[in-house]
Amino acid sequence: MREIIVPAGIRLRRARDGDLAGVAALSRRILRSSNSLCGLSSGDNRAPLQGQLRRDPQEEGLAIFVAENREGRLVGKGALDSEGWLKGLYVSPAAQGTGIGSALLARIRALAKERGRGKIRANASVTSARFYARMGYLRKGGRLVGRTRPKIPTVLFEKDLSAWGS
Ligand SMILES: CC(C)(COP(=O)(O)OP(=O)(O)OC[C@H]1O[C@@H](n2cnc3c(N)ncnc32)[C@H](O)[C@@H]1OP(=O)(O)O)[C@@H](O)C(=O)NCCC(=O)NCCS
Repeated sequence: MREIIVPAGIRLRRARDGDLAGVAALSRRILRSSNSLCGLSSGDNRAPLQGQLRRDPQEEGLAIFVAENREGRLVGKGALDSEGWLKGLYVSPAAQGTGIGSALLARIRALAKERGRGKIRANASVTSARFYARMGYLRKGGRLVGRTRPKIPTVLFEKDLSAWGS
């Protein structure tokens, strides 16, 4: 398996029940900095997240990873669902650009490969589209998603995991 490079002082681990407040705080920091384009809204955020964290990831096939700094603060989050979709990858504004997003993405990619997935798909916010392109994901078109009105413009990205070295 390809080595995952994690920035110094950062630990990647599976999310647990006690992370709810930390992930909600992280989502609020993202929301404040990158507006509604990111697909989060203060109102609809907490309940689905609670559901995600409370489900048994093994049973449901949903795996949530978090990045924690030396102080125990959550600075990043991302998940892989049972269908091979990447869900809610985001990094705290103050920690962006330091390699946490790519480390989380690499961890999620490794899990998708362990699960025998041929590809990963992601509905990326337009603000993070260049990141996915940089990570070797191929743009497959645009989509409008979400429960808000107007719906949120996203870009569908895919990565083939069957190719050698992917
Ligand atoms: C997009 C995001 C997940 C990337 O995580 P990150 O930790 O900042 O990214 P990394 O530091 O691992 O960067 C990896 C590479 O992608 C590039 N990159 C990261 N974010 C980028 C962006 N928004 N635009 C262009 N390039 C970007 C970096 O420059 C780096 O390139 P390099 O290897 O040439 O140096 C993170 O910046 C984020 O959450 N941004 C908020 C944007 C948003 O709206 N997110 C959706 C919330 S639902």
